[in-house]
Amino acid sequence: MSAGAAAAAVTVGDLRRQARALLKGAGIVNAARETDWLLAFALDVPSHVLMLEGARAVSALQAEQARVLAGRRAAREPLQYLLGTQEFRGLDIAVAPAVLIPRPESELLVEETLRAVAGIAAPVLADVGTGSGCIAVAIACERPDATVYALDVSAPALAVARSNAIRHGAGDRIRFIRADLLEALGGARAFDAIVSNPPYIPEQEVEGLQPEVARYEPRVALAAGPDGLAFYRRLLHGAPPLLKPGGSLVMELGCGQAEAVTRMALQNGAFDSVECRKDMAGIERVLVARKVGTGGARCAGPPPVLMVS
Ligand SMILES: C[S@@+](CC[C@H](N)C(=O)[O-])C[C@H]1O[C@@H](n2cnc3c(N)ncnc32)[C@H](O)[C@@H]1O
Repeated sequence: MSAGAAAAAVTVGDLRRQARALLKGAGIVNAARETDWLLAFALDVPSHVLMLEGARAVSALQAEQARVLAGRRAAREPLQYLLGTQEFRGLDIAVAPAVLIPRPESELLVEETLRAVAGIAAPVLADVGTGSGCIAVAIACERPDATVYALDVSAPALAVARSNAIRHGAGDRIRFIRADLLEALGGARAFDAIVSNPPYIPEQEVEGLQPEVARYEPRVALAAGPDGLAFYRRLLHGAPPLLKPGGSLVMELGCGQAEAVTRMALQNGAFDSVECRKDMAGIERVLVARKVGTGGARCAGPPPVLMVS
């Protein structure tokens, strides 16, 4: 045997078997499917090639890249951070460890926000805690006449959000602002809708979440004080002066929070209608609170000049 033939080439099939076993052993539920996504990404081939060309030899570098990715996934790093992407309302949203991975239930938040501004020409909206920008970008794509202000306290998150807006051709209609919730927005009664998927996990519950979330997703995107309601209190207090009469505050709710947040919204006195919408799992997931009055909310007009600090 020649020296060159001493080390047998690693094949696609070898990598597939090894990675599947690793992921399965780490308790990954969809080990087979995730293996194929990771290998397709590492080897830069469509995933059906993995099945059809198991005997294909791969380079040492590609084999190493595939093993590193499988090892990271086995350590429970989220698949989306490894692949760098998550689909959201039909959009390919880039994700990185600085941002929460968009969840399917947040698509309902977008739907309800679009419904809230359906009869309004050229609506002005704010997305508070924009993260990857998935909500702001989806709204801007689905309502090309809208102007969206996307706010987040995290500068790295805003960089990801901005890149997503540019990627989907909405960069000129979304203004990105680093801010503590609504504090940078000085323009009174400027908004037709304020939408937010705020952090809502009680502080002490974060560590008990599945490892992908607790170890890898940004804590600033998750934790919300001892009862998980800290951001709802602040948004319910801060949003009414910024909303036009008849404007809507639309917030995603954590499981089991609907009653408490509805009570807070009703006690607030600024809203004449407060409703919750259920997600596909039957969980009350989105609260829509409509500010008292019908004033200018349905009038078309140019976006107001906002005092953004
Ligand atoms: C639950 S994540 C939502 C991210 C994204 N909107 C989504 O739905 O996938 C909450 C976001 O709020 C941001 N955030 C946390 N505290 C904040 C604050 N005080 N002011 C503004 N944004 C904040 C986090 O950085 C994070 O991006």
